[in-house]
Amino acid sequence: MTQEKLGPPTAPAVAEPPRAWTRSHLLDVDDFAPAELEVVMQTTDAMKEVLGRDVPRVPALRGKTIVTLFYEASTRTRASFELAGKALGADVINISAGGSSVEKGESLIDTVRTLQAVGADVLVMRHWAAGAPYLVARHLQAAVINAGDGAHAHPTQALLDLYTIRNHLGDVRGRRVVIVGDIEHSRVARSNIWSLLAMGAEVIVCGPPTLLPAGLRSQKASRPTVEENGREAMALPPVQVETNLERALEGAEVVMTLRLQKERMQGGLLPSLREYATLYQLNEERMSRAQTGALVMHPGPMNEGIEISPGLASSLQSVIEEQVTNGVAVRMAVLYLIARGTKQ
Ligand code: CP
Repeated sequence: MTQEKLGPPTAPAVAEPPRAWTRSHLLDVDDFAPAELEVVMQTTDAMKEVLGRDVPRVPALRGKTIVTLFYEASTRTRASFELAGKALGADVINISAGGSSVEKGESLIDTVRTLQAVGADVLVMRHWAAGAPYLVARHLQAAVINAGDGAHAHPTQALLDLYTIRNHLGDVRGRRVVIVGDIEHSRVARSNIWSLLAMGAEVIVCGPPTLLPAGLRSQKASRPTVEENGREAMALPPVQVETNLERALEGAEVVMTLRLQKERMQGGLLPSLREYATLYQLNEERMSRAQTGALVMHPGPMNEGIEISPGLASSLQSVIEEQVTNGVAVRMAVLYLIARGTKQ
């Protein structure tokens, strides 16, 4: 691999993206080949090295403008994209729908065209509607990165989760990964299922029947398109399904638990939070069924005492904070791979 110097001698070299990377947007990981996932993992390694320096900055994206546009709340994703962009020398502008001209009735397309007109090279967007980044990508020359669209996809979360798992276990092929909780409303679960299966992991989803997508077992793999913005876009590849958490955890090497996403629930899906916690809370006693030292993961934000016990969340098995930390390097990698292809 050739090394291209991206800054003055004191600045680090960042490897030129391998040829496996040809994408100009990152909308989901549902159609990623293992080689593309490898490119992101290797580029993240390089970014980790940059972040470990005394001055964790490189001028790789100097002159580029990154706009984060969030129509939904965020702490981790938004902060890490901002830090990632700045670490790469880009200008970063953060816009929330609240407080912007969206409140005056400006449409999504008019908003993103405005941001492009003021110079955005990359638009990092989170939206409550599944498919919104696909629609935007069709209307912009700027690159679009999906930072979460409704219950559909959260590709950079899946990438940072994969990176974190590999840091501990190496190759994920054949590893038993259990995803527990509100699968139905979880964009994190969906994107993780695609990337983990692509890399050869064994994926088991577990939750109450009302929080498992209908027909999960029988659905064929299909990729979402903007025309499929709805139920069809939510299709998942076949995975193992288990409604009993104790059984699901037998032999697990990684357990990822999810928040109940009440903001996307129609209501009436659970008898009570107490009953949910009784049957599905991940705790120390339940984790004893998994392999010794199995990783405990959570994408955050957590509701400790509901989907996870406070003791387990802060235990030695927990890699939850490490997931957040890795989010910066992974998002640097994604921004670098995507933004290098935008106009100069
Ligand atoms: N995991 C995640 O997307 O967290 P935020 O909502 O805080 O960005």
